[in-house]
Amino acid sequence: MAASQTRVAVAGVSGYTGGELVRLLLEHPDVELSFLGARGGEERSLSEVQPHLAGSTDLPLREIDAAAIAGSAEVVFLSLPHGVSSGLVLGLLEAGLRVIDLAGDFRLRADDYPEWYGFDHPAPALLAEAAYGLPELFAPEIAAARLVANPGCYPTAVVLPLAPLLKAELVRSGPIMVDGKSGLSGAGRSLTDPMMFATSSESVRPYRFPKHQHTPEMERGLALAIGTDAPAVSFVPHLVPAVRGVLCTSYVPLASGSTTTRELTECVAAAYAGAPFVRVLDAREMSDTKRVRGANTIEIQAVADPRTGSAIVVGALDNLVKGAAGQAIQNMNLMLGSDQAAGLSAAGVYP
Ligand SMILES: NC(=O)c1ccc[n+]([C@@H]2O[C@H](COP(=O)([O-])OP(=O)(O)OC[C@H]3O[C@@H](n4cnc5c(N)ncnc54)[C@H](OP(=O)(O)O)[C@@H]3O)[C@@H](O)[C@H]2O)c1
Repeated sequence: MAASQTRVAVAGVSGYTGGELVRLLLEHPDVELSFLGARGGEERSLSEVQPHLAGSTDLPLREIDAAAIAGSAEVVFLSLPHGVSSGLVLGLLEAGLRVIDLAGDFRLRADDYPEWYGFDHPAPALLAEAAYGLPELFAPEIAAARLVANPGCYPTAVVLPLAPLLKAELVRSGPIMVDGKSGLSGAGRSLTDPMMFATSSESVRPYRFPKHQHTPEMERGLALAIGTDAPAVSFVPHLVPAVRGVLCTSYVPLASGSTTTRELTECVAAAYAGAPFVRVLDAREMSDTKRVRGANTIEIQAVADPRTGSAIVVGALDNLVKGAAGQAIQNMNLMLGSDQAAGLSAAGVYP
């Protein structure tokens, strides 16, 4: 291990986002992967739970235990289901670790959890200190945080594209209609009938609307970004027969009927000038999840539709990378004072 390397743990390596974290962290120049946590610990191996990573490290799998993680690492990623990671975080913080939670446990206010996640928050005192991990919008807060709430994949594809347009008052704050599409890996690895090939191939279907848990997260993320009350969001997610990829199309009223696509595009491009993972498309291009597959990139497209007085704003990303593991590593880089792009510069996989 080089002197400057940080010891990093991942809890939940048998899942999709956990596997993606290990894949990316193994190539990170400033990281020594020091703890791989999975239920069952040494009864399982990395090559068993993530066959594509066989031979990439000699590390054994270990039970997910706060004390054991604290003895092995300085930073920990929690790739665990909602409601599980919040039980671990206090012990990890008390042991001096910095924590990046990929679940939704630290993204909302305490009052939101019973309604949107179906549980009472077990550590409400920590919610106020958790930084919302959108690096392009909240870098100073993330850099200073002990605890980062890594955003959901859909909210990332909505909040990043809309925030500059709302801030510049080129669009009005609502209602914002969001149509979301996700590939099957967005639901995680557990096998359920709606996720089976026979059920999902040749099918596009909405699910869990109008009460998807990412709806209040979009509203809160936008409110944090623009510094005013939350705009109201109406969100309908759809499952599409793809493995990776999230694409959200947001429809929002233009502030002025004479606003052009060029003004919208220039506003977003100026807001993210120098942001290494934001690709703003010009009016001739159409966003595509295929182009961002495996990369930490979000493609953003903002188009004026003067006939209806709307802006149509698209965000496309890989749910496992910019929507989860890649963004989490970008957050870690900020927390460590490193280049935010460290370990994340690989292009996507195409076609
Ligand atoms: N998939 C995405 O695109 C995406 C994007 C953004 C955020 N997220 C969030 O990231 C988190 C992980 O998602 P995922 O897609 O990686 O899920 P996943 O593929 O279902 O993996 C879940 C992981 O958690 C472990 N686990 C399940 N129940 C546990 C428990 N009670 N105690 C300890 N470990 C437990 C699983 O281990 P076993 O192998 O033992 O079951 C597995 O390693 C979720 O909170 C999800 O909402 C996911």
